[in-house]
Amino acid sequence: MSVYGSFPGARPRRLRVSPAMRRMVAETRLHPADLILPAFVKEGISEPVPISAMPGVVQHSRDTLRKAAAEAAGAGVAGIMIFGVPEDGKKDALGTAGTDPDGILQVAIRDVKAEVGDELVIMSDLCLDEYTDHGHCGVLDAGGRVDNDATLERYAEMAQVQADAGVHVVGPSGMMDGQVGVIREALDTIGKEDVSILAYTAKYSSAFYGPFREAVASSLTGDRKTYQQDPANVRESLRELALDLQEGADMVMVKPAGPYLDVLAKVAEAVDVPVSAYQISGEYAMIEAAAEKGWIDRDKAILEALLGIKRAGASTILTYWATEVARWLR
Ligand code: PBG
Repeated sequence: MSVYGSFPGARPRRLRVSPAMRRMVAETRLHPADLILPAFVKEGISEPVPISAMPGVVQHSRDTLRKAAAEAAGAGVAGIMIFGVPEDGKKDALGTAGTDPDGILQVAIRDVKAEVGDELVIMSDLCLDEYTDHGHCGVLDAGGRVDNDATLERYAEMAQVQADAGVHVVGPSGMMDGQVGVIREALDTIGKEDVSILAYTAKYSSAFYGPFREAVASSLTGDRKTYQQDPANVRESLRELALDLQEGADMVMVKPAGPYLDVLAKVAEAVDVPVSAYQISGEYAMIEAAAEKGWIDRDKAILEALLGIKRAGASTILTYWATEVARWLR
């Protein structure tokens, strides 16, 4: 007598009987070229500085960033997303270090380009929070509010200096209205039509960014709720998506990844451009912390988290584990 009564043929477990069978019917696979490595580089240091809330991740010196880029390329990783951290005391209200052609991010882009050339897609964070003394992603008006349009002017300039340094892709992450359009125009104006834009389309105001704030030595007090999205919303992301595509986004991103897989799936269904997801600092820290306590199998948890993000619709994933995981997958 079958457990299925009149459907004796239906036994899904048949396709799970062996590793070979499971491999054959797997619907999702991770590949090194799915992965993008976010990396921090700090000005004026000669040794890397560990980030305590992200064990295994460091603020690189210029030298060790080059090495990390070469290792990522060697492991088959798709790209590197570089975040610059200016020297202590160099932050100001306008974030001028972000538009200085000799600022740390611009210098690091040149370094990485010299090291790996076109072997890796070189990407840069395009945002002011690493450079402002108040820690916001934009410049402030007289009332202390983030001034959207004044910020756009700063972003246009940032895009141009990053492109001049040789970046392949800029990643505007500040969630200002109109940022993609303004950046596209700024790039085209200086003949950088080939530099593409990975738009942070759906970026939520998330508690899981906590460890990142240490990574970039952020001085933010308060929050980013007037420009980043409310975790309660999903339709709003489709609106942001439509605007980013109209403004010329080449690729779009959902961030964070793990707690927003529904958003990722909806965005991926709605578009015909590549979709990225950013597995952020807090997602990294949670798995590392539980593993350190012996509460979870670290490597399996990492692979499962990444697989879930890919299954939900990501074509590429930004993850601090990119190089390590790429080596596992080879
Ligand atoms: C803003 C930016 C942030 C992250 C990437 N770009 C922080 C924020 O919005 O507060 C977070 C990445 C992470 O947490 O891993 N420039």
